[in-house]
Amino acid sequence: MELKNISFANKTGIITGAAQGIGKAIATQFVEMGGKAVIVDINAETAEQTCKELGNAVYYTVDLSDGDEVVRVFEQIAAEQGRIDVLINNAGIVNTDDFATLEREKWDKVLAVDLTAVFLICQVVFRHMAEKGGGRMVNIASVAGKVGGGFLGTSAYAAAKAGVISLTKSIAKSGSDQNIYCNSVCPAYTKTPLVSILTGEREKKVLEGMTLHRAASPSEVANAVLFLASDAASFVQGENLNCDGGLLMNG
Ligand SMILES: NC(=O)c1ccc[n+]([C@@H]2O[C@H](COP(=O)([O-])OP(=O)(O)OC[C@H]3O[C@@H](n4cnc5c(N)ncnc54)[C@H](O)[C@@H]3O)[C@@H](O)[C@H]2O)c1
Repeated sequence: MELKNISFANKTGIITGAAQGIGKAIATQFVEMGGKAVIVDINAETAEQTCKELGNAVYYTVDLSDGDEVVRVFEQIAAEQGRIDVLINNAGIVNTDDFATLEREKWDKVLAVDLTAVFLICQVVFRHMAEKGGGRMVNIASVAGKVGGGFLGTSAYAAAKAGVISLTKSIAKSGSDQNIYCNSVCPAYTKTPLVSILTGEREKKVLEGMTLHRAASPSEVANAVLFLASDAASFVQGENLNCDGGLLMNG
């Protein structure tokens, strides 16, 4: 497929955390390009509102920190939606505590939402895609996972996101023979509610590191994600794409 022909017509895509932020931008473009969005989020009210705005969308609610519920809900989605062509693991939470004082409970929560849920969801959807002849997964990591974190997330977040990058490669290795693709994207500072705490001097410092000297809009990150979710990325497998305004330059 050529880039100019990218379309998600007749395709169903699950996007986690799509009630707002980057996930909402991904779901919006996915629907605009002909697809049906399945939004999975903890926030029913915002998810319902987003669904109404998008039109060709449905939503399911689940707290991704509850592993048993994650498996139950994704098995339900696979059964009810018939075929899942695309999976975008986008939902995430941050923690900015100092390493020395980070409590075990908070570590567990970040790892549960940002890494274990990604593993569980990919596993359920992998089995489904294998049965149906293939599909495309994109996991949202973060530059924090490559540099040990920063203002936008410290040790737990950085460790979880590093895990997502590596897990992605491992799923890609298992998926290639079954026409299942798995790639990841590392955004840097992107203007969403998640990073509303980043203001003043701290924001200035982050922007100094990005050679474009500005934050991304959610739709700029969505562009990178949807390229990888499309058949135009038919020779890209297990790759991590920085979408970071020139921060790491492939580091
Ligand atoms: N915004 C940034 O600067 C930035 C930078 C790098 C990576 N990221 C990553 O991009 C992804 C999206 O971030 P965002 O900025 O759009 O965040 P956001 O906070 O704006 O949106 C996150 C969404 O996930 C949902 N969510 C949170 N916890 C959940 C849970 N336990 N169960 C189910 N849903 C849950 C929220 O309700 C929300 O709709 C995250 O994985 C984040 O780590 C963001």
